[in-house]
Amino acid sequence: MNSQNQKNEINRRKFLQNTALAAAGIYLGILGTPKLFGNVLMDKDAKGIPDVKLNNGLKMPILGFGTYGLSGEVCQKSVVEAISSGYRLIDTAKVYGNEVEVGKAIKQSGIDRKQLFVTSKLWVDDAGYENAKKGFEETLRKLQVDYLDLYLIHRPRGDVKGSWKAMEELYKAGKIKAIGISNFNPEQLADLLSYAEVKPAINQIETHAYFQQTNDYKVLKQGNIQMQAWAPFAEGRNGLFTNETLTQIAKKHNKTTAQVSLRWHFQRGIVAIPRSSQRAHILENLNIFDFKLDDTDMKAIEKLDLNRTQFPEWS
Ligand SMILES: NC(=O)c1ccc[n+]([C@@H]2O[C@H](COP(=O)([O-])OP(=O)(O)OC[C@H]3O[C@@H](n4cnc5c(N)ncnc54)[C@H](OP(=O)(O)O)[C@@H]3O)[C@@H](O)[C@H]2O)c1
Repeated sequence: MNSQNQKNEINRRKFLQNTALAAAGIYLGILGTPKLFGNVLMDKDAKGIPDVKLNNGLKMPILGFGTYGLSGEVCQKSVVEAISSGYRLIDTAKVYGNEVEVGKAIKQSGIDRKQLFVTSKLWVDDAGYENAKKGFEETLRKLQVDYLDLYLIHRPRGDVKGSWKAMEELYKAGKIKAIGISNFNPEQLADLLSYAEVKPAINQIETHAYFQQTNDYKVLKQGNIQMQAWAPFAEGRNGLFTNETLTQIAKKHNKTTAQVSLRWHFQRGIVAIPRSSQRAHILENLNIFDFKLDDTDMKAIEKLDLNRTQFPEWS
């Protein structure tokens, strides 16, 4: 390399370093650290998606990719698209019937398994000690992985105690990095805590602007259990994407209603896992870390709470 090229190279590196520092400064200084369940850390490998630290010390991206309703080639393609766009957390479940495609996508992405955060869930048919162990092995086989980052009891049905014991053993054996629950209300959580040896790291529950789950939010925060939102857009039900309040806030920040929704979750310290089969949406949903909702925005969104599920068919 001649001296001019060397100078150019040094300048280029300085520029990149300064840009990275400026970005970190904006994030930590101007935007501030959001209210969180655990600690938010910047993860250099995950293209700017901050991590939360779970109650067992495991780091988890605060924004991930959901796969409910995605199947076959569309699923595989969408997950590959998501991983190549920068998502590292992928959320699937046995009952979605797409673990095979998610597994193929993980292989196809070429990303080191250790850089991904793979979640799956134990379905109600597999509740109970023996069945849970079998269900877990089937999930690993379908996903073509030898461990899960997170495994959840999908719904509080059947022999939850037996399922949890099986999951605790798998956790202690290092086959699962963190175990948690989904769709548990505070009473069901309290029951599980009465016998659990390992405290759940996560409760994944329906959460969006129309169902803000303020009580569960407090209970989980007090218990140091990370809240995770499923259906962060309520699947667009009840006109969420065209809601007037969200539209006004989106215009103010030159963002979309989807981005405002995800930013709202982020500022509450909630892990969100939006799903999309469209490249433009997959990218759009990642682009939420360069603006901040102010108190007026947060209060306006608070008023949208209908405090009831938008999925009554699943209750
Ligand atoms: N634990 C549980 O019981 C449970 C239950 C439900 C869901 N989940 C998990 O949570 C994830 C998310 O929930 P969800 O999939 O039900 O619903 P969601 O993420 O709230 O909404 C998905 C819908 O939003 C659309 N969308 C995504 N990004 C958009 C954007 N930027 N602009 C406009 N439309 C957009 C998608 O359409 P396009 O494809 O056209 O973008 C899709 O129709 C699931 O995929 C699953 O992993 C868990």
